[in-house]
Amino acid sequence: MTAAGTARGHGAGKAAPGTDGPVLRIADLAVELPGPHGTRVRAVDGVSFDVPRATTVGLIGESGSGKTMTAHAVLGLPPEGATLTGRLLWHGEDLVTADPARRRAVRGREIAMIFQDPLAALNPTQRIGRQVGEIPRRDRLPRAEVRRRTAELLDRAGIPEPERRMRAYPHELSGGLRQRAVIAMALAGNPELLLADEPTTALDVTVQSRILRLLADIQAADGLAMLLVSHDLRVVSHVAEQVVVMYAGRVCERGPARAALRRPAHPYTAALVRSVPAVRTRTALAAPLPGAPATPANRPDGCAFHPRCPLVRARCRDETPQVREAAPGRWSACHFAEEVLGE
Ligand SMILES: Nc1ncnc2c1ncn2[C@@H]1O[C@H](COP(=O)(O)OP(=O)(O)OP(=O)(O)O)[C@@H](O)[C@H]1O
Ligand code: SF4
Ligand SMILES: [Mg+2]
Repeated sequence: MTAAGTARGHGAGKAAPGTDGPVLRIADLAVELPGPHGTRVRAVDGVSFDVPRATTVGLIGESGSGKTMTAHAVLGLPPEGATLTGRLLWHGEDLVTADPARRRAVRGREIAMIFQDPLAALNPTQRIGRQVGEIPRRDRLPRAEVRRRTAELLDRAGIPEPERRMRAYPHELSGGLRQRAVIAMALAGNPELLLADEPTTALDVTVQSRILRLLADIQAADGLAMLLVSHDLRVVSHVAEQVVVMYAGRVCERGPARAALRRPAHPYTAALVRSVPAVRTRTALAAPLPGAPATPANRPDGCAFHPRCPLVRARCRDETPQVREAAPGRWSACHFAEEVLGE
């Protein structure tokens, strides 16, 4: 794939070469970190899901469930000292075993990331134009072409007066404009997959919805795949076609976003939905999740959710449920998923 060139035409989604399969298949991904007393902790434990072409997949779950760790693993950025196993099939090519040069070539280009905090993602000492123009410059485009391309990227990200804003330093822009500049940087490599980790939580509410709309518009116009990490179910139900729900480093449910959030196949998803008034369907009041989330370092035996689950039975304490298809397209790691779906 070439990184240079102009922004892609509207509706011109890239087809996976020779296949209609997902752009990214995550299979049995595990990220193991050094724990106390020489132990190893599986912060991500056997995670599998697909990111189909031109589709937004929402990744949800409480704090500490492993959402960021999963996204960073996809980008090839696990924390210091971590071991990564499983497969990350990028158009069928395994990025886990690919050589470092190939992984570097994919990162930031074919797969780009938008982080939560735009200030942390930007270099405070460099003008916006220089940072957004880094990839076109690395591609050795002529200076005038780099400028034109940079202005075009800023414009696509909805930054008014791009020529003027190119000369600004990050601190001279509002939070919303800074996040737009980060989006422009992510688009510079002409990516096929955008990883967006809580891309709006650092912004105030009115700006949040504009940025999300921008991301959704770009995703649809360019036929991008997007993995949207969020703990905000309202956002995910609006923006994502598919949802993956994580708990204590594992997937507990995945499926079509609207269906999964309306009629969950896992008691944890049901509890998350009940905790948010806007996506509740039957009663008006939100019900906070009972108990504290399990952590990967202290994951209960059997089903990790069992100490908090209203449906817990003896089997749940001993037998770890595997993710299985409980109804067409509806995947759940609950022994009693059919019962949950039928409620
Ligand atoms: N650099 C690190 N070193 C060791 N453990 C880490 C590191 N980063 C995260 N963890 C642990 O890994 C687990 C998963 O963390 P992660 O940041 O992926 O959660 P998250 O779902 O993104 O949460 P949040 O919603 O708060 O962003 C947590 O238990 C966390 O404490
Ligand atoms: S397996 Fe058991 S404890 Fe786990 S979610 Fe299902 S019913 Fe609840
Ligand atoms: Mg996170």
